[in-house]
Amino acid sequence: MRESNRIACEVLDLIEQHAKPGVETIELDRLAEKHIRSRDAIPAFKGYRQGNSPPYPGSICASVNNEVVHGIPGERILNEGDILSVDVGINKNGFFGDSARTYPIGTIAPEIERLLKVTRKALFVGIAEARSGNRVHDISAAIQEYVEAAGYSVVRELVGHGIGRSLHEEPAVPNYGKRGTGMKLVDGMVLAIEPMVNSGTFRVKVAKDGWTILTADGKPSAHYEHSVIVRNGDAEILTKVA
Ligand code: MF3
Ligand code: CO
Repeated sequence: MRESNRIACEVLDLIEQHAKPGVETIELDRLAEKHIRSRDAIPAFKGYRQGNSPPYPGSICASVNNEVVHGIPGERILNEGDILSVDVGINKNGFFGDSARTYPIGTIAPEIERLLKVTRKALFVGIAEARSGNRVHDISAAIQEYVEAAGYSVVRELVGHGIGRSLHEEPAVPNYGKRGTGMKLVDGMVLAIEPMVNSGTFRVKVAKDGWTILTADGKPSAHYEHSVIVRNGDAEILTKVA
């Protein structure tokens, strides 16, 4: 788990250096895939199937502005002032890693910068609740309360998840909920916690490509994700470079 999640972090560090105005999102996808293969790992999203959608074509998800998650990399060119959410999944030796960040492209408006800051902080507010003895929805409620107090909304249709021998395992880790409910957390459990925060309504819709999730009101959205080990104390973040 440490290895696969470290590779996820390496990919996001690499993309950070290349997510600049004038770049096409498919170029970032190619960079990511090349790095993943160089580490003898497999891009876990590529070919991923869910419901009636076609197999996911990318190694990363690249979601711009009003795209919440699952944006398909393509010829779209990043512009100054955009935000880009990149999500990457790794399979190394049958163990999975998963992480996401939202990058500013060049200089962004102060209110969008605030959206990024609040979403990133919401992730850490959630991670602080990922300790043995707590329950899953303690994480959820902490994220929801923090985000809504900041004047934003949390997406309901997509959730965080357990992760391990599969990309998506039990339990679901929603970004909204009621404290003291949900599965009891125990030492050693690994969770992918991933707040998706909308600047307007929490409502979303699916684009015609069958994958891209869009905000219903067209306003920008941000996404940060870490995979963490639940501990009897502070959770251990796996999606970082040691
Ligand atoms: N990254 C998503 C998650 O964190 C899953 C994306 S699946 C894909 O759960 F097929 F769209 F890549
Ligand atoms: Co995930």
